[in-house]
Order: sequence, then C-alpha cells, then structure tokens
Amino acid sequence: MDKKYILVAPSILSADFSDLGNEIRRIEKAGADWIHVDIMDGHFVPNLTIGATVVKSLRRHTKLIIDSHLMIENPQRYVEDFIKAGSDIITVHAEAVPRLKPLIKKIQSYGVRAGVSIKPKTKASVIYGVLGLVDLVLVMTVEPGFGGQSFMQDMMPKIEKIRLRYKGDIQVDGGINAETGKQAKAAGGNILVAGTYLFKAKDMKKAVASLR
Ligand code: DX5
Ligand code: ZN
Repeated sequence: MDKKYILVAPSILSADFSDLGNEIRRIEKAGADWIHVDIMDGHFVPNLTIGATVVKSLRRHTKLIIDSHLMIENPQRYVEDFIKAGSDIITVHAEAVPRLKPLIKKIQSYGVRAGVSIKPKTKASVIYGVLGLVDLVLVMTVEPGFGGQSFMQDMMPKIEKIRLRYKGDIQVDGGINAETGKQAKAAGGNILVAGTYLFKAKDMKKAVASLR
C-alpha cells in the first residue's frame, strides 16, 4: 500500500439529526478527520436523506473536511449546489454518470476534490479510465442506501486491484468496524467511513482510534 496515512470519516447518517451541531462537535472531539455526508435521492438508492441545505448548515459548524457522497441520479445537475454549500470533496457514482471525465473536471475546476465510487456489483475496471484524474476512489462494501449493514468481505480483491493501479486515496464505505477496518486497510484502503460503529460506540474517541 502506498498511502502512509489512515483517515477516519464518520458518516452522519447514523447521527442524531435533531442535534446535528452537537453531533459535529462530538466528531471533532473524537479526533476524526472528515465528515462523510450521505446524499440519497430515493432513485439511485431506495432511500432519501438530505440535500445541499444541510451541508450548508454543517459548513457553519465545522472546519473539518466535508466529504459529500452523492448517491443520486444525474449528479451533474446538483454538483454546483453541493460546491456552493461548502463541500470540500464530492464523490459521484460511476453507475449514475454517462460521461465521468467532464463531471470530474467540472468539480475540480471549483477547487473541490472529486471522487468516483462504485457499488458492489460494479467491476473495478469501469473506473480504470479515470484513475489518472480523480482525487479519490470510494469502494462500497455494502449496497448503498442504508447504514448498519454487514461488510462485504468479497470486495477486498476489488480494492486490491484498484490499489495496484492507483496511488491516491481509496475510501472504503459500509459495515466498517475495528475488525473489518483492518481488512479494508490490508487490501489497500486508507480512508475509512464508519457510521453505526462510531455513533453507537460508548466512547467515540476510542472507536476512531481503533480504526487507525
Ligand atoms: C451507505 C452509506 C454509508 C453508510 C455507512 O449507503 O454510503 O456511508 O452510512 O454506515 P455504516 O458504517 O453503518 O455501514
Ligand atoms: Zn457513504
């Protein structure tokens, strides 16, 4: 693995949405690196979550990197909203974008990092053509849509294949805990997204540390 650092990105999908300001402070105090925001549209995935307005409010509460994971159809229509709202990173799904390169370049033209993600059934080779362009690759280790699902160990060879070709950040998302986090890192992942594990932990700081 080329990356020497490991970053932890709590997914606010598992946070208390009635008290997001305090949840953000909890994430900061726990020593996490990024705030992972799961944007779902009820079409690309069978669930609805939040939009750019919430990202804008989060932006006022934190200096941490805001990492927006767009699980939506036609992300090209919405990326500007999420950029204006203050996202530092925008990740789009390869399955949702017919022409990835122009969209990635558009995101980057605003000085925002652009990531590409693939669902469990999507082959790694689908994104080989953009590995020279993207700032991050996100490999899903659950079917996107919901927190609290079990980690798909059979995605590890996919991470390994990407790591062989890509020296940048590889983010792993879905079912991450101390045990599965180790597997994700061993395969070549260096940014771990975790929702349930961190927010349900008695001590979030210890849980964050256990992923490093
Ligand atoms: C799933 C989301 C994940 C999810 C992670 O569609 O992309 O970020 O919230 O949650 P856990 O860690 O509970 O699997
Ligand atoms: Zn996510």
